[in-house]
Amino acid sequence: MTNKNLIDLEAMSVEQVGKLVKKARKIMQSPADYRHACDGKILATLFYEPSTRTQMSFQTAMLKLGGRTIGFDNPMNSSVAKGENLKDTVSVISGYADIIAMRHPVEGTAMAASLYSSVPVINCGDGGHLHPTQTLTDIVTLSCEKNRLDHLKIGVCGDLLNGRTVHSLIKALSKYEGNSFVLISTPELSVPLYITDILEKRGCKYEISHSLADAVHDLDVLYMTRIQRERFKSAEEYEAQKNVFVLDREKLDRARADMIIMHPLPRVNEITVDIDDDPRALYFKQAQYGMYGRMALILLLLQDEDFLLSERPTELCAQRCNNPKCVTQYEAYLPNRSYKKLGMQMCDFCDKRID
Ligand code: CP
Repeated sequence: MTNKNLIDLEAMSVEQVGKLVKKARKIMQSPADYRHACDGKILATLFYEPSTRTQMSFQTAMLKLGGRTIGFDNPMNSSVAKGENLKDTVSVISGYADIIAMRHPVEGTAMAASLYSSVPVINCGDGGHLHPTQTLTDIVTLSCEKNRLDHLKIGVCGDLLNGRTVHSLIKALSKYEGNSFVLISTPELSVPLYITDILEKRGCKYEISHSLADAVHDLDVLYMTRIQRERFKSAEEYEAQKNVFVLDREKLDRARADMIIMHPLPRVNEITVDIDDDPRALYFKQAQYGMYGRMALILLLLQDEDFLLSERPTELCAQRCNNPKCVTQYEAYLPNRSYKKLGMQMCDFCDKRID
């Protein structure tokens, strides 16, 4: 089965990612050719969680394509404040807009929204789960700056446990030949097992490191991430983790001259500002590449009938997902949708095992 919703980048084939990158690069070369490509179309941005880049780059992308935007960036200014559920909000807005981009702090919310939307839904981040358009941003950046998506040694550093950008990126890049990863984090914030399972299944080499200074010397790409205060249960736990990994001039001096530094942003303290002028620091340019990637995505979802994303087979199960961060815990009407993985029943919304 196929659809037009981008919930998880796993639904997009390597060929489709290649098509999107090619289109993004064409838009960059001649933006004027696309000035009226989405005349008359409306993008709704439903942001239940703060955002600078994702929300504004989607809005700018649609405006640059000739379309218009509606939406909210604070659900308390919408009828969500009166208790409206997700199903009703999405059912109504999909009658106003041609495409919906949404962010929500709860895992699986974009997937849930797609069940009730008559127009494509794009996941712009669902809790600590996934952030597929950040990964498209990263892929466009790598393609433009490294001229390849394969045979790269990528160091990912920071909160690898809760970092949805990192999970999406590792999953996506592990599909390309010869890529290897250095996973740099504290033991408490190491990548979830399902991510290393994917790496092993795909025959992708990886190392685990607890030292940025040791790991940085032979990387093609260093992908820094923020320690996310909002994902911790207590201030004490956050305080113990913040500032453990900081890329400063001394560590950067150990890196190769052609290594690039990426960061999904926002940055807190994990890259010192004196590095911003180093030619290897690409994080601000990366945010701009993201806008072109999102322009390409909007065009492909709205105008290319053949650009369909794969949908995994699901079934209804008797048991409800018991992940406290899953949307099924908040939206009571949702069905108990699941899929099978290695004989286990997995929640179709948050991808956690149902047991
Ligand atoms: N990278 C990213 O998602 O940034 P925002 O939170 O500002 O959208």
